[in-house]
Amino acid sequence: MCGIIGYSGPQEAVSVLLDGLAHMEYRGYDSAGVAVEVDGVLRVAKKAGKLANLRAELEARPLPPSHVGIGHTRWATHGGPTDLNAHPHMSSDGRIALVHNGIVENHAAIRAALEERGVEFTSQTDSEVAAQLLGVELAARGDLAEALRACCRALQGAFTLVAIDAQDPGRVVAARRSSPLVVGVGDGENFVASDVAAFINHTRDAIELGQDQVVVITPDSVEITDFDGAPAQARPYRVEWDASTAEKGGYDWFMRKEIFEQPRAIADTLLGRHDERGQLTLDEVRIGPEELRRVDKIVVLACGTAFYAGMVAKYAIEHWTRVPCEVELASEFRYRDPIVDGRTLCITISQSGETMDTLMAIRYAREQGAKVIAICNTNGSTIPRESDAVIYTHAGPEIGVASTKGFTTQLVACYLLGLFLAQVRGTLYGDEIQRVTDELAMLPELVQQVLDGADDIYALARGMVHIEDFVFLGRHVGYPAALEGALKLKELAYLHAEGFAAGELKHGPIAIIDARTPVFVVVPPAGREQLHNKVVSNLQEVRARGAKTIVLAERGDTGVRPHADALIGLPRVSTLLQPVVAIVPLQLFACELATALGNDVDQPRNLAKSVTVE
Ligand code: F6R
Repeated sequence: MCGIIGYSGPQEAVSVLLDGLAHMEYRGYDSAGVAVEVDGVLRVAKKAGKLANLRAELEARPLPPSHVGIGHTRWATHGGPTDLNAHPHMSSDGRIALVHNGIVENHAAIRAALEERGVEFTSQTDSEVAAQLLGVELAARGDLAEALRACCRALQGAFTLVAIDAQDPGRVVAARRSSPLVVGVGDGENFVASDVAAFINHTRDAIELGQDQVVVITPDSVEITDFDGAPAQARPYRVEWDASTAEKGGYDWFMRKEIFEQPRAIADTLLGRHDERGQLTLDEVRIGPEELRRVDKIVVLACGTAFYAGMVAKYAIEHWTRVPCEVELASEFRYRDPIVDGRTLCITISQSGETMDTLMAIRYAREQGAKVIAICNTNGSTIPRESDAVIYTHAGPEIGVASTKGFTTQLVACYLLGLFLAQVRGTLYGDEIQRVTDELAMLPELVQQVLDGADDIYALARGMVHIEDFVFLGRHVGYPAALEGALKLKELAYLHAEGFAAGELKHGPIAIIDARTPVFVVVPPAGREQLHNKVVSNLQEVRARGAKTIVLAERGDTGVRPHADALIGLPRVSTLLQPVVAIVPLQLFACELATALGNDVDQPRNLAKSVTVE
């Protein structure tokens, strides 16, 4: 989820690029860089850290004036957030500078082939592979656009690429597959960027590129083709947003934008998870398969929303690996003398990778000899650095304080990890793993279906602005989904919201329910008869006490209809994966209710995005 920009026109390129990057810094801030063409030579400046570091570098060592260039602000995926891994990347002959957003899935194979031909790499990124490949293609074909098209045909995955050639001044080429790219059409100048926020101060005329298209801009031309070079059509439009709305992609809150980004975030988290033999892989593994086979206990450690993802992980991991799995709040773990030893595997989940309670818990676990696998969204952060293996969620930066895409991508990473452990330990057959993997691949589309029904959920929320107490119920993996739904409402709307295991209701909590209490109930898919019927009984119990029920159930589940005051239809999905689709309406509900109450949804009171104290 990096931010990229290219410019060709009469203005001083570095200042146009820096201004554009400043408006895209919400897309990533691990490093930033620019490259410009000056008298047939490419000049590059790049720095780890926020854009301010690059600005300081350019003040200390300014680049000569130029009228064509590219820029990048990075959210690290492959390779840590260092100066070397920062973009732009150059081809070995110095002729090409390239910036990239996305994930090149077949980077390892291409890198190996290029290394065999003597190409020397300077970074660990998948992006440099694209730069080097483009350099080789350019040397063979002589034309930058032709070379880019050939390069795109060879790359797999999701990518936006923007490049310049030292020997082709004035031209910027760009391509997209499953990552965003828009063209800004100016008067005697043109732009390409990840989003319109990058050029909105210069022009409001934009063209949205389609899938698998390549664009070439000069100061006074825009040419679009497909990957084979045939002329292609793209959608022109006029941007009506102001700069701040543009950064939020037209949404009122970053959080709402992030809710709607979930299909893409989930798809990115699923990308590149198989090696050449079709085996599931993690991002960084410093534990051998023998050690993973010796594990006799798994402990999941996390806080808040990540803890609820861990609760779901417990169900999946025990079911698929048959290894006992506990899930524990990181803040409680090390103060109770837990039984952890060299055969214990800890799984830690953290969006930020910096949560102090979680960090302390894994340090303690490692001191006792346990191995730690981290699920994390932030490349290069402390928790993955101090773990034995990592699986990164590729959600991109989460700006809204309340976690949304962070949570659903954590769920997806937990499933992948559960399947990985089952593969290593041989507790599932290959075709069983494939069946779940195929279902995971459907999740982006299923989450999109839920998002398409957002207006009904908004109407429901706006009808409840006068209510102060809410109850959320679920069983099995619906229970953590209920807890997470309640947490979202507490955080954003500052209202009393409690989540319970539906079966616990009659052991006490049912006493708080009366005719004023809306009760959200997550109903398991109808295929799980026993579980489903138990929840339907719970529904009837709360209804008998006069409560209003808001039922989240599989579309076509006629059994729940008589017991629902409001029904939210969920797409068909197997029980273990259901939280991914069930949480989305609850996120939308909390966001809309908090908005209606006039709260600051992105920065709720008393909360911090990253909790770096115990
Ligand atoms: C809730 C939320 C928090 C975090 C928790 C852990 O919306 O965001 O509960 O989930 O503070 O944070 P990370 O995942 O960064 O360790």
